[in-house]
Amino acid sequence: MRTVYLNGDYLPEADAKVSIFDRGFLMSDGVYEVTSVLGGKLIDFDGHAVRLERSLNELEMRAPMEKDDLLQVHRELVRRNEIEDGLVYLQITRGSDGDRDFVYPSEDVEPTIVLFTQSKPGMAQSLVAKKGIKVISIADQRWGRRDIKTVQLLYPSMGKMMAKAAGSDDAWMVENGAVTEGTSNNAYIVKGNTIITRHLGNEILSGITRKAVLRFAKEAQMKVEERSFTIEEAQGADEAFVTSATTFVMPVVEIDGSAIGAGTPGAVATRLREIYLEESCKAAV
Ligand code: PDD
Repeated sequence: MRTVYLNGDYLPEADAKVSIFDRGFLMSDGVYEVTSVLGGKLIDFDGHAVRLERSLNELEMRAPMEKDDLLQVHRELVRRNEIEDGLVYLQITRGSDGDRDFVYPSEDVEPTIVLFTQSKPGMAQSLVAKKGIKVISIADQRWGRRDIKTVQLLYPSMGKMMAKAAGSDDAWMVENGAVTEGTSNNAYIVKGNTIITRHLGNEILSGITRKAVLRFAKEAQMKVEERSFTIEEAQGADEAFVTSATTFVMPVVEIDGSAIGAGTPGAVATRLREIYLEESCKAAV
């Protein structure tokens, strides 16, 4: 049984209980982060902590603990659950004042903070990454503040189910003719030596992996264009890929039934995956 963290205590998962009035449960009034673990160490903890703080600020939610303490909890859970490769999931909600109300409860209501681990042995040596994934396009029907990492994940979940029903692995969401992002990852295409990915804004989440990958790409003398692109442009690209804390850099080999490039993982995506894993492991804490 896993040890999880809830509001200051390390508990067996079966003993961790949250109120039915918690606003995370009733209103999806909560934010989260997913930090990957490789070789028992946290990948880009700092980036996730900074984005978490931003999400909390945007929602006027109180941070239940300082960054250093948060790092200690992450490390302690990795240690207690003997995680070699996997992830740490963190969620903070606005808590509960014992009833349901659209108005935020008063400032002195304690936020709820939950962390748990997921073990994924050999996560970095994914066989899927050697084959690449297939995606379909779907309309982006999420709310307008996708830059905040909230736990409102019903539409992304529906998107995954639509992909599954279509025999694909994931969905790229499209709004006003342009790709926003994947259901739980940022989307990219490659043309020659240029990597194209949507510019930041309220329409997408500013991925921590995205930031690192774009930096590594520039360091490797690749060109980066942060702009919108269409599904048609993606289908005509040399390569496509997605990034996230759980997939790192994952080649996309098919979009809406149309093969990308040779229909196998491209050289740029493959190289970026190698660089990303190597550099992030070096910097892991
Ligand atoms: N999802 N865009 C969306 C909508 C996401 O949910 C995620 C991450 C990303 C990539 O962000 P990062 O590189 O910081 O992981 C982009 C996490 C992994 C999840 O929900 O499990």
